[in-house]
Amino acid sequence: MGARIGVVGSNMVDLITYTDRMPAAGETLAAPSFAMGPGGKGANQAVAAAKLGGDVLLVSRVGDDLFGGNTIKNFQDVGIDARHVLAVPGTPSGVAPIFVEPSGENRILIIKGANDHLLPADVDASAEDLRTCSLILLQLEIPLETVYHTIAWAAREGIEVLLNPAPAVPELDVSRILASTFVVPNQTELTILTGMPAETPAQAEAAARSLVDRGVKTVIVTLGADGALLVSDGPAVHVPSIKVKPHDTSGAGDAFIGAFAQHYVKSHDVAAAMAWGARYAADSITRPGTQSAFADAEAFAHFCGKLEA
Ligand code: RIB
Ligand code: NA
Repeated sequence: MGARIGVVGSNMVDLITYTDRMPAAGETLAAPSFAMGPGGKGANQAVAAAKLGGDVLLVSRVGDDLFGGNTIKNFQDVGIDARHVLAVPGTPSGVAPIFVEPSGENRILIIKGANDHLLPADVDASAEDLRTCSLILLQLEIPLETVYHTIAWAAREGIEVLLNPAPAVPELDVSRILASTFVVPNQTELTILTGMPAETPAQAEAAARSLVDRGVKTVIVTLGADGALLVSDGPAVHVPSIKVKPHDTSGAGDAFIGAFAQHYVKSHDVAAAMAWGARYAADSITRPGTQSAFADAEAFAHFCGKLEA
């Protein structure tokens, strides 16, 4: 089996406003700056893996508007196989208004547009190419039926799946995601998945363990500045993060997953891939934007070199 990564997921145009505070209802507020850039959880994860040298195939949908062509060109520029990124006639591209406060904290709205048109039949139409992948990444910005279908198909094919259950979707049918090899939620998403609290490390471990007991092979809980927690058979493993000054945390979870995947398909070492992902995410939050903040292999090697110095 090769080390190819498949991503069946979303892409969005991120419209990022940097503001000193959020306006109150009825208030108009001047904000210091704005930036537009490529985003969407599926695309972000694909781009992170590709920038680090991963071999990535993306299955996604864009609108037939001005954004669509640029989005596809961006994928090609970072070396992603984008043959299955197609435009949906008469439909706008997905967009994400994002608000970032001085602490680096982010708030995101998504308008899914073309992403809502990525259907199970589209996965089937890409099956011949998806079969060449050893790991498939999924998130929840496409129809849930497509997520369930891909998980079931990959299980039949013997291909590992990493599901990032983001954004949290209360109507997710947990029984239909249990065949995933990896489920990678943050603490909020883990609570919505399990109905269990996940604020403390002990709570997060118990909630993650409940998914392992139901059949998920490995749960990785991302803990923001506290790193990530690995729960599988055997004792849990905590992988710490790197302390940096946050500038813009949007896309950090995607940076973690893309880098994790790129490392894991080569190493098959889950804890080492998590440490790699945690470093890559830490580096990304020191810069504004989502994909535009993701380092390439050379810049990331430089960041890691400084940590070791
Ligand atoms: O995870 C960050 C991403 O969420 C942004 O790029 C935005 O597009 C939304 O999908
Ligand atoms: Na960032």
